[in-house]
Amino acid sequence: MSAVLTSEAANVSKAQAPSSIVAVLLGTGVVGGAFLKLLNTPAASSIRLVGAANSRRQQTQAEQLADRSLREKLKINGDARNDASLLAALDANEASVKVIIDATACGTLASRHAEWLERGYHVVTANKSLAGGDLPGWRALQAALASGGRYGDSATVGAGLPVISTLRRLRHCGDALLTLEGVFSGSLSYLFNQYDGSQPFSALLRRARELGYTEPDPRSDLSGEDVARKLLILARCAGFALRPDEVEVESLVPDNLRGVDVAAFLSRLEELDEPLAARFAEAKARGGALRFLARLNQRGRARVGLVEVPANHPATRLYGTDNQFALSTTRYNTQPLVIQGPGAGPEVTAQALLGDVLALA
Ligand SMILES: NC(=O)c1ccc[n+]([C@@H]2O[C@H](COP(=O)([O-])OP(=O)(O)OC[C@H]3O[C@@H](n4cnc5c(N)ncnc54)[C@H](OP(=O)(O)O)[C@@H]3O)[C@@H](O)[C@H]2O)c1
Repeated sequence: MSAVLTSEAANVSKAQAPSSIVAVLLGTGVVGGAFLKLLNTPAASSIRLVGAANSRRQQTQAEQLADRSLREKLKINGDARNDASLLAALDANEASVKVIIDATACGTLASRHAEWLERGYHVVTANKSLAGGDLPGWRALQAALASGGRYGDSATVGAGLPVISTLRRLRHCGDALLTLEGVFSGSLSYLFNQYDGSQPFSALLRRARELGYTEPDPRSDLSGEDVARKLLILARCAGFALRPDEVEVESLVPDNLRGVDVAAFLSRLEELDEPLAARFAEAKARGGALRFLARLNQRGRARVGLVEVPANHPATRLYGTDNQFALSTTRYNTQPLVIQGPGAGPEVTAQALLGDVLALA
């Protein structure tokens, strides 16, 4: 017998071997696809995938799940979506750890996380809709966690940079957050790291979109809503149970471009240029720079928006799509604890999911 198994053969053999963790994957897009690749690596050998789904189809057959083209095949083939049969696939297994991995941005799925935890499943998620959503949903999640299920949320902020874990650890040690400030969006980081007035903002935005740094509809990034959700998640981790309407959000999308369809928005990007050029020129004249910052102060006041910062501000020393989180606490009070690094990307986000899944065992 050959000493080297092909990846597919290794998968089939893994499907037959006892695993300590059984998992269902919801979402086989950019992040879910990268997670499926990680499942084929030795690091994931204790995980057995028993179900996978996109928005329209799902698969629970072991041989199909072990197929390296699973993601592509699910686009055209598979059973109709039905959460109950995915949960049944988890229940049919003897493994002690049963986890639902949510790699979607679907609010409806996120609204079921608490129920799944109460039913004895663990949940690992890149989906921010529950932890960064309405306060009642977040409170239901906290209540459900009392039933013993665990919630892996490292991928929801900073694509797995160790910010949520650090905040929890500091709090556990009796430290308290005084202020939090940073750049929480890879796309907005790129845009303002690059914007130096030499080219219109719209040209830079088109380039960022081509590079895959923005969502297909860049208004999702420019609205600041995604950053606001991340700030809510972190504020709540730090003990500030804020409502979404308590985060002041400055959108960079002009009012008259909010209701138009994506194609119309993309054809009118130049309308962003003049107001941003004026703000840039004002900041430059004072020796400052523009950065899209999220901020939380000691009284729980939260704001997300474009800020003029001095030239020596830590956020001016970012590269590419870096995120940055500067935490001042009662013990880190002379200099903030700064966590910085790539805050987007499928591989690192999928790795954050994998780390949370492995931590369940
Ligand atoms: N991309 C990144 O770098 C990054 C970084 C950090 C966090 N995240 C977060 O990770 C999540 C996924 O991002 P992505 O970039 O992978 O998005 P994506 O490429 O758009 O993929 C989303 C996937 O979710 C599936 N889906 C939607 N509703 C579903 C449902 N009800 N049941 C099962 N599957 C469903 C979609 O199915 P269809 O294929 O049928 O549409 C698609 O496969 C988002 O919450 C995002 O904010 C992404």
